[in-house]
Amino acid sequence: MSGEVPCVRVAREHGEATRRTLADADLIADDYEITVEDGWLYIPISDADAVREVLELEGAVLEHDTHDTDAGSDSNSDSPSHNPELVTKTVGERDTQTTPAELLGFDPSYERLGTAVLLDEDDDERARDISAAVLESDLPVDTVLNKASKVKGETRVRDWDLLAGDDTEVVHREYGCEFALDLAEVYFSPRLATERHRVTEQVASDEQAFDMFAGVGPFVIPFAKRGAECVGVDVNPDALEYLRENARRNGVADRVTAICDDVRDVASEYDGWADRIVMNLPHSANEFVESAVAIAGDDCVIHYYDIQHEDDPFGPGERAIREAAEPAYEVTVETQRVVRSYAPHELNVCLDVRLER
Ligand SMILES: C[S@@+](CC[C@H](N)C(=O)[O-])C[C@H]1O[C@@H](n2cnc3c(N)ncnc32)[C@H](O)[C@@H]1O
Repeated sequence: MSGEVPCVRVAREHGEATRRTLADADLIADDYEITVEDGWLYIPISDADAVREVLELEGAVLEHDTHDTDAGSDSNSDSPSHNPELVTKTVGERDTQTTPAELLGFDPSYERLGTAVLLDEDDDERARDISAAVLESDLPVDTVLNKASKVKGETRVRDWDLLAGDDTEVVHREYGCEFALDLAEVYFSPRLATERHRVTEQVASDEQAFDMFAGVGPFVIPFAKRGAECVGVDVNPDALEYLRENARRNGVADRVTAICDDVRDVASEYDGWADRIVMNLPHSANEFVESAVAIAGDDCVIHYYDIQHEDDPFGPGERAIREAAEPAYEVTVETQRVVRSYAPHELNVCLDVRLER
């Protein structure tokens, strides 16, 4: 069986790097074969818009593959290009793998984190059935965890039931970065990957970036990979240990300072330091805006995460920042973005706010 699908086309010798970038962003269409033809590699993709963004192919049009396999390849214009291109191409379908849904007779909802599957099931028996099907399926998974509480307390860690596997530690890959973490000891959500990537893409190599609630480093590590000098603060000592380990794993330890403390007690040491600040502690970020303003340099962007009612999701955050920063700073709200729906009528949002002195 075969089908015509969107593909990234790239010279074969550059194909592995492109394939790895697409795999890290989870953009390869696994149902189709990666195909080699006359020096070109064709990588089937699941989302052309996201690929344009990840491979920086702004404006690239999805064209039918016009490469003529019978025409020979002595023309220079037909030489495989170093630059990836977007084309449609007829490629073979892969042998279908057994999915949990096929084994269960219904489509279970779950998240993937490294080789773990995360469930959110109230019914223990249903959770165990899904766990058994996940292990029997062809998913590359050795651990199944079911949420046993909401995120709670200062460290935002939740309880888990370990349904399969040895422990709650995983290694997760996200947009080319690798994160070790123990879900029973630290906060981490794979659902925020796209949002973190959106922010990371704004980071310049000569920046100083401060993450006030850094966790295991899902903002700090990719920022540092782009060349920024980063400070990450967290009250959770386990999160800080993983942040340090993840800085080493990703080769950016020289650009990352990890501080285990209440960020309000650290702010005065970084007075006027930051070009960029991340505040991902929704529900109580408003209690920390004065510290953020203290850390902000003369021209600084704050990424402020909040959870608010859908009737006015951005107003409370904007008002809190203006109250703390004006008139010392000119305050401009550059972006208002809904990250996800959090609960009925409640939204998790982000405001990108520029402070200029
Ligand atoms: C929602 S998590 C975000 C972690 C990380 N930025 C991420 O996106 O995965 C919030 C983090 O803030 C930390 N935290 C809570 N209160 C804090 C405080 N006063 N000072 C520093 N960190 C704090 C928690 O331990 C937790 O790791």
